[in-house]
Amino acid sequence: MRSSHTRSVILGTGSELPARVVTNAALEQLVDTTDEWITTRTGIKERRILEDGKGNSDMAYRAAQRALRDAGVEAKDLDAIIMGTVTPDYPFPSSACVLEDMLGARNAFSFDVNAACSGFLNALAVADSFIRTGMIRHALVLGSDTLSRLLNWKDRGTCILFGDGAGAVVLGATHDGHKGILSARLKTDGSHVKTLYVPAGGSLKPASLESVKKNEHTIAMNGKEVFKIAVRSMEEISRQALDEAGVSIDQVSLVIPHQANLRIISALAERLKVPMSKVMVNLERYGNTSAASVPVALDEARREGRIRDGDIVLLSAFGAGFAWGAAVIKF
Ligand code: ACO
Repeated sequence: MRSSHTRSVILGTGSELPARVVTNAALEQLVDTTDEWITTRTGIKERRILEDGKGNSDMAYRAAQRALRDAGVEAKDLDAIIMGTVTPDYPFPSSACVLEDMLGARNAFSFDVNAACSGFLNALAVADSFIRTGMIRHALVLGSDTLSRLLNWKDRGTCILFGDGAGAVVLGATHDGHKGILSARLKTDGSHVKTLYVPAGGSLKPASLESVKKNEHTIAMNGKEVFKIAVRSMEEISRQALDEAGVSIDQVSLVIPHQANLRIISALAERLKVPMSKVMVNLERYGNTSAASVPVALDEARREGRIRDGDIVLLSAFGAGFAWGAAVIKF
């Protein structure tokens, strides 16, 4: 339960999607698939792919700059930079440290959070806790991923699903008891590690000629299993976040779910009894951008005027781990 009177509010948002568009038609040239199959099974029409020679932090930097400008906060005023990502520029140090230097955020401490598609929700919950305890006043929270670098472009079961992108929010402290992050809930189930993972490239199986030859540095997934558990888990944690916030689903103006598959989103909306008109969907343009999906959708929803002062928004995400989370925010 929340006891502190200090809350965190979203002061600004920003996002960045790479310029290069890869349509379903382009994927028809790479693997045995069709635009029709991808559209009906996932809802995705195209995705963005980061150009060669750029890293995750290049996208994160642009998203961060936009969020800072939107918030009217300067980089030097940031106390923390927390980034949800599974595709940092280097195995170490963190993408957040690279970004800190790019921004010139000299007064911040920075680190990455590895929680795959729910990375942003995890980063948000950590930053929110730091703010509520009084440890920090301003945080830059990001979800930024370059999953194109982890795809096997010969595997039609995975390469059609993902895209690259970055989303950012600036959080600040408030004593206004009526707005801000009302609740945040997180959960994991490590028994599903191998249902969705990258088999090699870590300490267990470091890169070798053999691992590269066997394509073990790319995403391996049991899609059906992910689908089933994603719907159930996002429903459950969304209800828990709403309960903790003391908010009913009818009071929610907009649900911003992880953008993995339109069928997952529709099933979640049905279970939560929310009409699709109150659900943010942009996956037809970007595919599944992993940790970036929720903050990119949040930024677009704000820019489209779908979130107004006083609105209550529910965020919900699910991904590898399995790791999932939800948050309720009053604007
Ligand atoms: N094009 C054409 N056919 C395909 C393709 C493709 N791109 N991919 C698979 N198929 C074939 C399969 O080989 C199979 O053929 P078969 O019946 O001859 O064996 C058939 O289509 C059906 O395959 P399924 O896997 O049963 O298809 P399903 O309806 O489950 O859809 C999908 C697959 C889209 C991957 C779905 O399971 C899904 O979206 N799961 C969630 C996965 C996900 O979103 N992961 C992201 C990370 S976690 C997260 O973000 C939630």
